[in-house]
Amino acid sequence: MDIAFTDRQAPRSGALIVASLADRQLTAGAEEIDRLTGGQVTRAMTASPRFTGKREEILAIPGPAGIAADRVILVGLGPADGLTALNCQKLGGVIAAHLNATAVVEAVLWADMPKDAPIDTAAAAAEIAYGAGLRAYRFDRYRTTQRAESKPTLETLTVELADPAAAQAAFERREPVAAAVAIARDLVSEPANVLYPARFAERCESLRALGLEVEVLDEAALERIGMGALLAVGHGSERESRVVVLTWRGAGDDSAPLALIGKGVTFDTGGISLKPPAGMEDMKWDMAGAGAVTGAMAALAGRKARVNAVGVLGLVENMPSGRAQRPGDVVTSLSGQTVEVINTDAEGRLVLCDLLTYVQDRFSPRAMVDFATLTGAVIIALGTHNAGLFASDDALAEQIAEAGRHTGETVWRLPMGEAYDRDIDSDIADMRNVAGNRNAGSVIGAQFLKRFVREVPWAHVDIAGVAWARKDGALGPKGATAFGVRLCDRLAEAFFESR
Ligand code: BES
Ligand code: MN
Ligand code: ZN
Repeated sequence: MDIAFTDRQAPRSGALIVASLADRQLTAGAEEIDRLTGGQVTRAMTASPRFTGKREEILAIPGPAGIAADRVILVGLGPADGLTALNCQKLGGVIAAHLNATAVVEAVLWADMPKDAPIDTAAAAAEIAYGAGLRAYRFDRYRTTQRAESKPTLETLTVELADPAAAQAAFERREPVAAAVAIARDLVSEPANVLYPARFAERCESLRALGLEVEVLDEAALERIGMGALLAVGHGSERESRVVVLTWRGAGDDSAPLALIGKGVTFDTGGISLKPPAGMEDMKWDMAGAGAVTGAMAALAGRKARVNAVGVLGLVENMPSGRAQRPGDVVTSLSGQTVEVINTDAEGRLVLCDLLTYVQDRFSPRAMVDFATLTGAVIIALGTHNAGLFASDDALAEQIAEAGRHTGETVWRLPMGEAYDRDIDSDIADMRNVAGNRNAGSVIGAQFLKRFVREVPWAHVDIAGVAWARKDGALGPKGATAFGVRLCDRLAEAFFESR
């Protein structure tokens, strides 16, 4: 789908989108169309008593008289004071979905925000276009036949407004983020026979085109470094493990970076502690943390963010085999601390713990945030509307929560504490990788990670419930959400960039 911004033109063929505020308060553009069509907009509203102009409501008026457009689409904006950037993005998403579902090829949107909206028309136009782009994402690589009815049709969306240059400038800030979201969704959607650790690393290499530095550590390098915990997870797999380091130097100085860390288990069978078969196919997206971090780094580079950042990905496949680690094995992590592996299915923490140590040793970051599909328990606790947030630092936790509210990638903080920490003491090693019971499984996972964090502000975001959507959403189709990309982009922009 192509997106363009121009000044207001006379209605032409294709769909024309105009808006109504709450309580059927037509915007100036909608009133003009009502006049040009001899009152068809008002008549359509009268005939559709359910339509009141609530946010994201849609009223289609096919075949309007008096104008060249094939159809007019009246979209509800809701109350003016609710028109935040995020709500404008969602409007764009809902519009794009409607246009594709009704076989529209070309659409024009007349953007005119009411005076009392918290966003001006140019910014709103850019957010609407951004949301439409996010929602129009598709992962179609493996479809060789598709019914015409289910193919997307929308080719161009032209947003018309008084100041198209201002909208274009605002959109240029957003477009690289939409592209980065697509990169992350592509990675997360790929099946595990295609996307194994070395392949994931290869895909990262192509991000050099954005100006990112990309370093790939292979198994020999990881052994030399001493990532014994991470390597133990990959030991049962025919596929070699990798760690990828993505570096973005945008601050213009040598200031300490914001470090992002991603769990990249390209497939999680559970290992010898094998998972049951039902739903195991979902474990192809057990690399969504690494996908999000990859996307976040692409976003920062793509929009030339004035920040120093590193993204570190732990890429492994967790398989059972004659070489796989066994329950009861003791592994030595990069930190020197030993771990008794009680359950080989609690593998994400074994991957992350070595990355946490590596990042602190090598980069002395300003803050570090890890993203991981770490526990099924976080889905029980929070469902699919919030990721679980754990943090060693209240200020960082609040910054992440704020970035989440701003982008709609919301998080909910869960507790940590000494008392939980005692549950992972081991009889023969420094710690065990799971507690002796199923209580507070997500907290236990976070508590395990915390043993590898020194002084630096650290947060852990458990995205097991939000990485994959079972239903279409306003800003994306069902499937990979790329949760974390937009959150990290906002976190960097609001709290880590130099101005
Ligand atoms: N990758 C899973 C967690 C997961 C479950 C992600 C469902 C997405 C959807 C993780 O490696 C895992 O298996 N965790 C175990 C931990 C347990 C053994 C302490 C779990 O949640 O059951
Ligand atoms: Mn697991
Ligand atoms: Zn896992």
